[in-house]
Amino acid sequence: MRTHLKWPALLPVFTSFLFTCLSAPTIMAQAPEVFRLDGGRSTYAFGVNERGELQTLYWGASLGPRDKIPLAHSLPEWASFDSSYTNTPQEYSGWGGGLFTEPALKVAFADGNRDLVLHFVDANPNGPQSLEILLKDISREVYVRLRYSMDSETGILARSASIENREKQPILLEQVAAAQWTLPPARYLLSYLTGRWAGEWTLDQEPIHAGARVIESRRGSTGHQANPWFAISRDSSQEVVGPITADEEYGEVWFGALAWSGSWRITVEQTQLDSVRLTGGFNPFDFGYKLNPGERLETPLFYGGYSDHGLGGASRLLHHFELAQVLPHAPAPRPRPVIYNSWEATEFKVDEAGQMALAEKAASIGVDRFVMDDGWFGQRKDDHAGLGDWYVNPAKFPHGLKPLIDKVHALGMDFGLWVEPEMVNPDSDLYRKHPDWVLHFPGRPRSEQRNQIVLNLARNDVRDYVEAFLDKLLTENDIAFLKWDYNRNWSEPGWDQVPADEQRRVYVEFVRHLYAILADLRRKHPTIEIESCSGGGGRVDLGILRFTDEVWPSDNTDPFDRLTIQDGFTYAYTPQIMMAWVTDSPHWLDGRTTSLTYRMLSSMQGSLGIGANLNRWTAADFAAAKRLVAVYHAVQATIVHGNLYRLISPRNNSPFSSTETVSPEENQAVVFAFTHSTQEGRRFPLLQLQGLNPDAQYKLGWIEGKAEAGTPEVASGRWWMNHGLRLDLRGDFQAAAFRLDRQP
Ligand code: GLA
Repeated sequence: MRTHLKWPALLPVFTSFLFTCLSAPTIMAQAPEVFRLDGGRSTYAFGVNERGELQTLYWGASLGPRDKIPLAHSLPEWASFDSSYTNTPQEYSGWGGGLFTEPALKVAFADGNRDLVLHFVDANPNGPQSLEILLKDISREVYVRLRYSMDSETGILARSASIENREKQPILLEQVAAAQWTLPPARYLLSYLTGRWAGEWTLDQEPIHAGARVIESRRGSTGHQANPWFAISRDSSQEVVGPITADEEYGEVWFGALAWSGSWRITVEQTQLDSVRLTGGFNPFDFGYKLNPGERLETPLFYGGYSDHGLGGASRLLHHFELAQVLPHAPAPRPRPVIYNSWEATEFKVDEAGQMALAEKAASIGVDRFVMDDGWFGQRKDDHAGLGDWYVNPAKFPHGLKPLIDKVHALGMDFGLWVEPEMVNPDSDLYRKHPDWVLHFPGRPRSEQRNQIVLNLARNDVRDYVEAFLDKLLTENDIAFLKWDYNRNWSEPGWDQVPADEQRRVYVEFVRHLYAILADLRRKHPTIEIESCSGGGGRVDLGILRFTDEVWPSDNTDPFDRLTIQDGFTYAYTPQIMMAWVTDSPHWLDGRTTSLTYRMLSSMQGSLGIGANLNRWTAADFAAAKRLVAVYHAVQATIVHGNLYRLISPRNNSPFSSTETVSPEENQAVVFAFTHSTQEGRRFPLLQLQGLNPDAQYKLGWIEGKAEAGTPEVASGRWWMNHGLRLDLRGDFQAAAFRLDRQP
């Protein structure tokens, strides 16, 4: 077991860190009581105050390497109603001592005591940019280990906590955050993402006022309704003095994302003294984690970052971080293969001949991966039966999957398959054999949604079953990709296999087992790629993204709706993981008719897929799609790995929208532009590009559309950014795209 250095022993260690820091950003301890982490263009600092609490000192733009951060001093009492303890911003506050703001940790002890006050014990450097801080209750044997790890490139700080019970009796953890963050007193604007099925990724923005705003999921999984991401912009429009108003490209933004795929909560609080605190982690609703003597509970990671380039700068940092640090193939995940998926074309009516015919057509337009969706297994004819029975349906595939997979390979594509491992239909062999395997309370109804019930993955036997069938499927078949679906949320979340006072651990153990299965499968089948889907974008977070290569942002594939969905999505997540299919027109959801070109260009903003019924396509459709798939392949790396600038937002019923992505080396830019409808002859707004090298020359190349007369073919980065260009783009649901290539 690790020995914890006490301060006098630690000092020399930190002194050597100080020297390192002068050459490369890292951790510094300027005095025993102050800790400082530097990375990217930001600094984070906290210290131990005179009472021994760990107090937040600074989070924002980089400070000078030799700047001294004043020691932590607790804030005073506010009249007789608010103690110094509640007013002082702590890094991880225990509920006790008269705390009225959101606690990080709330504990009930076996003897009835519920007071918890955490004090600093010691600190351990844990690698060049990582630090572990040990806290302990002032009298009880409850220890909290806080972990900090700063990414040197983006300045994104990963934080988590581990709670350990060294008491002789069990304790009940009633509320457990991963981290708390504090911003200086100022006026702020909160941005967060909300939605519903087929309408995910709405960017909501509102001023932060006194009191608390809670964004959360109580559903057992991440949820469509809110995503565990936030961004907080300095809102100087409400201040007498201050920096320029925070917006898409200007101003200060603090942002964060919680890496957890179960019920979660982020509370954004403005205290009576105007400081803004954020607390995020496991959702305390219906929570209760019994920690036996000697046990620990590890929280998820809560990432936080800072940008002085507005929301655009914040999302570029996150995209870069996700690619370089989070995704399974970080730091260099390959651009996603262009897929074909027949779900919208065939729904459950899959069979060998039909899939083979579609595969031939998909291959003819340059698709890289053929994915068979729902309907191939058990007695699955519609959504009433079959989930849980993961054998190949013999009527639809009399010779198993091999003939189809061989055919797909012969056509030059790899093969992917849809699964929904955590679910069961009551009409299945699995449920008939193991009715106790689902989440339920004995004697109570087992509510069905989409005719299915959630398997209790927290159980070891269920975990083993799910992992075994997936392992077998991947061992027996040459499958390159799984679309891993999850089509309902929890109800009656009972786990009657364990004692009543341990049942609520299900909120943690279910997700841990999910992650463990994904990790095991990836270890046993190192080339497998996985998509996280949950009836669209119901399970997208930085937790699942450690194990999955891409996500399905929404079941809504209408290309106009997708512009807003994709816009919102990119505030938190990289276009690399944003799968976007071209489907049929008129669209099944909105009945809107759009051209194939418009649909293709809308999907090309992310990781392109085709989901249309190719049996209905004309020769002209095939030719147009083939050309654009080839164009996409040529510029895909820029689109999915580059720096994204949301030039014109499609939000708020904007008649226009446009995005630009610049390759990391600044040698290529790809721009997309869309009209909803032009009116009264108004022109498409001037496009002033961003992020180019001002002194380089760039050549304009059209993917689709044209510019107004007089636009040069070659001009400097300065010209494209300052003078800009005007598209000749008019009418309803029109789209254009072009590239700029740096000239030698
Ligand atoms: C979910 C997915 C769809 C499709 C169906 C299959 O709704 O989001 O893409 O796979 O399930 O049942």
